[in-house]
Amino acid sequence: MPGTSTSDELLSLAVRIARDAAATARRMRAEAITDVQTKSTDTDVVTAADRAVERQVVEALRAERPGDSVLGEEYGDSAEPVAGAVRWILDPIDGTVNYLYGLPSWAVSLAAEVDGAVVAGVVHNAATGEEWTATLGGGAWRVVAETGRARRLSGSVRTELGQALVGTGFGYDAARRAHQGAVVAGLITRVRDIRRIGAASVDLCMAAEGMLDAYFEKGLNPWDHAAGGLVATEAGLLVSGLAGAPAGPEMLIAAPPALWGPLHDALSDLDAAGGP
Ligand code: IPD
Repeated sequence: MPGTSTSDELLSLAVRIARDAAATARRMRAEAITDVQTKSTDTDVVTAADRAVERQVVEALRAERPGDSVLGEEYGDSAEPVAGAVRWILDPIDGTVNYLYGLPSWAVSLAAEVDGAVVAGVVHNAATGEEWTATLGGGAWRVVAETGRARRLSGSVRTELGQALVGTGFGYDAARRAHQGAVVAGLITRVRDIRRIGAASVDLCMAAEGMLDAYFEKGLNPWDHAAGGLVATEAGLLVSGLAGAPAGPEMLIAAPPALWGPLHDALSDLDAAGGP
């Protein structure tokens, strides 16, 4: 039990805060479109929104749960993890390039972690209103906007890698991208096709829902995959690294059990965790 709250209570707080944060990010984007000429660069617009959203989330968490710590993309870690305490892991805007271009995949990703295990998480695609949630042991759910009801997720039923639609992503560093491009070049003949959606948290939730059959990426940070990783795991996907390693910066593979082995072996052959 995380502190005095259950995972469900942490999740409902996370959902409320993520929805408010998404509204702020949408409003700032709408304002920035008219204001963009006055900013020094495009990226300033994104950075300003990222920071404002993160600040809003941190303040909301502090107001409701002053004893918790927060690991966030913009401000870093507010404290060392304390045994039994909740640490929130936040990406205020995952998919910042999509946010900049107006492509409809950018999300607020917020997870609650206790003693190294993510116990609750929400990914809210602020551009579309799609929302995915999970609690540890409580399943993965997609809220259906039309009905307000939640649908339980169970991933793709595909079993052959050659028939699989596989999502991935690329880091920002040119040398890393060169290696990642070579891996994709080797993989593309072994799968149905590749998708690069542009927001790791959304990729993971799409894999949880079966909109992608599987997903992998090298170089992710905890805030990119904490909430989406729980959604994928709770949907029944295996989420791990290569060769028995846990999912982390070297590699994250999320796939249903039947696809995990073949995808893992193909990525291993291609040295997907290697390179810079
Ligand atoms: C990025 C996105 C992207 C992934 C990168 C991430 P950001 O996060 O999730 O899809 O390929 O590895 O860094 O920078 O938009 O928060």
